[in-house]
Amino acid sequence: MISNDQLARFEEQGYVIIDSPFTDAELDRAEAAWDRLHDPPGRPPHNEPDFLDLFQHPFFEEVAKRMLRASTVYMWHGLIAQERMPSDPPHPEPGAEWKRGCHIDVQATWEGFTATPRRTKAEIWLWLNDAPANRGAMRYLPGSHRSVMQIWSRILTPEHKAMLPRGHGVAPQIAPETRWFPEHVPDGDGAPWVEREPAAMVARRGQALAFTSAGLHSAWHNEDTVPRKAMATGWIARGVRAGIPAHHYEGVFRNHAEMHKLLRPERAHIVPEHPDFFFESPYTDKWPEMFHPDHAVET
Ligand SMILES: [Fe+2]
Repeated sequence: MISNDQLARFEEQGYVIIDSPFTDAELDRAEAAWDRLHDPPGRPPHNEPDFLDLFQHPFFEEVAKRMLRASTVYMWHGLIAQERMPSDPPHPEPGAEWKRGCHIDVQATWEGFTATPRRTKAEIWLWLNDAPANRGAMRYLPGSHRSVMQIWSRILTPEHKAMLPRGHGVAPQIAPETRWFPEHVPDGDGAPWVEREPAAMVARRGQALAFTSAGLHSAWHNEDTVPRKAMATGWIARGVRAGIPAHHYEGVFRNHAEMHKLLRPERAHIVPEHPDFFFESPYTDKWPEMFHPDHAVET
């Protein structure tokens, strides 16, 4: 499912592209389901049986186990029919797009990432059509996950470290012309994060992107005429607790309860009916040590 070399690349650069076992016929059915889910949009992806069927294949679970160094893993959020729709010109200049879009979605410490099991979220996105650079392939700053998690290890209080991982979006500081968040990802060694050049995570249909969103990444505009299509999944190891913001809480618990009933009985263990490994972690509980030194602490 995922080789030792691929796991080493995941650990080194924060992501790796792997092959999946799915046949053209299976991908065709899932892609057709993806199309139905977007025309019109709004239905939960798990309500499309062909979409759910691919998700409950042991591939995702087995890859997540290896990524998280765990014998048991559970779905983190719901199943997502991830999209990147074509956009009209003029298209943004790459430097500006990275500066505006780069962020992390999960905070974890370096000790958490290197623990067994890993105390973080693993993401596996299966591509249902090709994801070339000009079709909105996600951009990632290779290796940034290491520096960013080491920064959290260094600056967070012991009390806050104990509350990781948590699914909070945080971005580097860009001040003051575009945004000014009091909590931010501080720069590491070398050039500021927003001035670095990310890599395009290009992949072919049927390949999967296995990555950690604890590293810096960004959505990217799609210059092609067709959408980029993916099945996005996230995973957590048994025994790990994670904080998520209140506005995600209801949706995540609803997704778990609904999906647990829809999965085949022998596969239902990957989505517990009640995901009691989550706790509420609101954005309103600001952590002063994440504030920019020039910015007053707002509590
Ligand atoms: Fe993200």
